[in-house]
Amino acid sequence: MSDKITIATLIKKKSSGQPVSMLTSYDVAMAQLSEKAGVDSLLVGDSLAQVVLGMDSTLPVEMDLMIALTAAVRRGAPNVYLVGDMPFLSYQVSEREAILNAGRFMKEAGCDAVKLEVDERHLGLVAALSRANIPVMAHLGLKPQSIHQMGHYRCQGKTASEAIEIVHIAQDILAAGACSILLECVTSEVGKAVSEITHYPVIGCGGGAGCDGQVLVLHDLLDLPGAGNAKFTKAYGQISEPILTAMRNYVHEVQSKKFPDASHSYHMSEDEKRQFEQELSK
Ligand code: KIV
Repeated sequence: MSDKITIATLIKKKSSGQPVSMLTSYDVAMAQLSEKAGVDSLLVGDSLAQVVLGMDSTLPVEMDLMIALTAAVRRGAPNVYLVGDMPFLSYQVSEREAILNAGRFMKEAGCDAVKLEVDERHLGLVAALSRANIPVMAHLGLKPQSIHQMGHYRCQGKTASEAIEIVHIAQDILAAGACSILLECVTSEVGKAVSEITHYPVIGCGGGAGCDGQVLVLHDLLDLPGAGNAKFTKAYGQISEPILTAMRNYVHEVQSKKFPDASHSYHMSEDEKRQFEQELSK
């Protein structure tokens, strides 16, 4: 059995210059394979609204579904550093609600941390969560839950003023108690600068090679339907084709009555069969 990966493992990796690998995960099968492949950390991202549920944005996903799927991922990958993504309006309404919802990720789903999309307005909340012993991964840069305020998805930190603002927010959020950072779609210069201000792991999702680790959405990595086409995504396998081939073979064998054959069917003993046939013919 491999050792449980904790925040201490990730900090040690960072200090020895070993990048952290993180993937999104939404079910037990993929979680099992991810842990077997040696992935350090899994994020049950609210991206599931788009890649699993086929929604337009991450906004509609609900707490109960996040908890159920995060718990499934934990069952599949007991040793990874597991991060649960706080969905839209699960932490914005009140500090009390945020702590209770974050607590559910820890108590019911077995998370090691929760992730929140934050800015300067969330310093008090991050401090409150950390006082409640709930480790926070602060999501900075492009924040998909703010899509209707931004109006577009675009790279953050392209100007010096935007870049310095992200670094300052990162500093303040870390001072408030966050113990890791996820930087989505920021310039590499920002990724490197933020990684250099802390001993805590800074994970890039389009944050460049200077981050302490990388996260990819599973569907992007496997090139599954729902995969995005942002510059920072990379497909490491064309998995749709083998899946389609297996499904087409199944449809063909059902239609041509090749499946199920005797080896995929259950049978009665000759004795029981004889009795059964006698009963049937009465
Ligand atoms: O929800 C998600 O999948 C994310 C990505 C940035 C990895 O937050």
